[in-house]
Amino acid sequence: MATILGIESSCDETSAAICIDGKILSNIIANQTVHEKFGGVVPELASRAHQQNIIPTVHTAILEAKIHKNDIDAIAFTRGPGLLGSLLVGTSFAKAFALAKNIPLIEVNHMQAHILAHFIEDPKPAFPFLCLTVSGGHTQIVLVKDYFEMQLIGQTIDDAAGEAFDKSAKVLNLPYPGGPLIDKFAKLGNPDAYNFPEPQIKGFDFSFSGLKTSILYFIQQKISEQSDFLENENNLQDVCASIQKRIVSILLKKLTLAAKELKINNIAIAGGVSANSGLRKDLICLAEKENWNVFIPKFEYCTDNGAMIAIAGYHKYLKQDFASQEIAPIARWAV
Ligand code: KG4
Ligand code: ZN
Repeated sequence: MATILGIESSCDETSAAICIDGKILSNIIANQTVHEKFGGVVPELASRAHQQNIIPTVHTAILEAKIHKNDIDAIAFTRGPGLLGSLLVGTSFAKAFALAKNIPLIEVNHMQAHILAHFIEDPKPAFPFLCLTVSGGHTQIVLVKDYFEMQLIGQTIDDAAGEAFDKSAKVLNLPYPGGPLIDKFAKLGNPDAYNFPEPQIKGFDFSFSGLKTSILYFIQQKISEQSDFLENENNLQDVCASIQKRIVSILLKKLTLAAKELKINNIAIAGGVSANSGLRKDLICLAEKENWNVFIPKFEYCTDNGAMIAIAGYHKYLKQDFASQEIAPIARWAV
């Protein structure tokens, strides 16, 4: 029997989870609201909030799982990629805990963990599968051959899909993180109201910076014609629905291309943007058309969480793949 404590602190969520033999017993997430007024994550404030949150978060995860801290067999932590100051808090906590309890330390790649969140519950994808990993910092198509054997097939050459959502939201005067708000307003709007441009990028790579600029110019133009354009709810809903439709169509077009070229029909999505209702809905329709077996994570496992670190840690524990006490976090780390 293996009990793993998973720690996530790569960006602005402090999270801890307990996993026993591949089953998640608790997954506690402390969100940081301090960044809202700045329109984005302020790294220094994020590290300070992690420092405050980490002990209570771990404590609650242990209580909720109804275990004792001495029952933990190994501690897994996000080593990267992410904000270095934030990663340092989780890494230092994990090292100290491992040292104090004399248990193994397990390093986890955050982007691999987003994908491995699919192994928390059934149905689990069979290898090989393709995963579209879409978060605030990354947009990748990954060929997953085994738990820790992953090949990057395509990625964004500029902004990530989450950034495209968040930066569009900022133009619309919505607070950070704007992705979930665009999703909420999009549900009530007409996705065909406005036609935002589709980037022409070769292969399996993505680009979102041109779209961001065209949305900015579009809104500036509308406001110059009608200063209260965004105050009208219908306008806001139509703009959100049209933005979401375009971001989703860019993502799914490249995913379809990759699936066809690689002849893979096990398809998954992961990361914060995989919580987007438009992406989930359109993917299900596409899967029927293309005859894909599609894997969509539960909402709680889309955005950053400790459970995905714990499950990744569990699979490394089975391989006895442990880290040393000299380990340090890294801001950039390929999948
Ligand atoms: O995976 P994640 O929690 O953190 C990173 O590793 O970056 O992803 C956060 C991103 C943010 O950009 C957020 O706006 C976006 O995921 N996001 C969404 C939705 N929920 C979260 N974007 C669109 N629709 C959503 N429902
Ligand atoms: Zn993430």
